[in-house]
Amino acid sequence: MFDTLASLTTFATKHPLMLFVLAVSSVFATLPGGGAAFAAEGTGKKILVAYFSHSGNTREIATQIHEKVGGDIFEIKAVHSYPAEYNECVQVAKREQQNDERPQLATEIPDMASYDVVFLGYPNWWGAMPMPCFTFLEKYDFSGKTIIPFCTHEGSRLGRSVRDITRLCPKSTVLEGLAVRGSSVKSARDDVAGWLRKLGMTN
Ligand SMILES: Cc1cc2nc3c(=O)[nH]c(=O)nc-3n(C[C@H](O)[C@H](O)[C@H](O)COP(=O)(O)O)c2cc1C
Repeated sequence: MFDTLASLTTFATKHPLMLFVLAVSSVFATLPGGGAAFAAEGTGKKILVAYFSHSGNTREIATQIHEKVGGDIFEIKAVHSYPAEYNECVQVAKREQQNDERPQLATEIPDMASYDVVFLGYPNWWGAMPMPCFTFLEKYDFSGKTIIPFCTHEGSRLGRSVRDITRLCPKSTVLEGLAVRGSSVKSARDDVAGWLRKLGMTN
């Protein structure tokens, strides 16, 4: 009907209703990701699944959550890499925790303000979150957001991580976290699904 932008514009200037339609559609076209397209099904909220994982267990749970709730998934990575060898990694992690370090992050979220709900996943390291998660929580403003912790571990479950998250983000709502044994992540789908349902994140 309109072979050029010029003819559409001419038509629109003569028909005020058309001008209104064009204005509204241009506003929606500029919303990142088309606005509602990134909102998790069933909640109407925009969701981020952020996780730190050294050996892949927490990544597996993050992926399972992301498959269920949708939204965006993001890996928290430090600029420096942690040793692949277990005992060496344990020593580095211990030193960082004792020194209360904030390792610089290699990855960045372009628009944290747009998220309503942030799932935050990490392995239990020495009873707490790895220090890059502390950097992450201090780097962005989580005021008014809902934070949902999940962790993998080999016996200490969530440790003191939820207390630390609540302390670092006093203006956020922190919901009940999920702890999964690192050696059982592949068979955790039912636990993940039940937890998400209980939180009202899925139907
Ligand atoms: C540096 C380090 C410290 C750890 N400290 C603990 C701990 O205090 N309690 C515990 O239950 N598991 C501990 N673990 C085991 C990890 O929490 C567990 O293997 C986890 O599933 C690893 O997750 P990832 O594969 O996502 O890195 C530790 C592992 C590492 C490497």
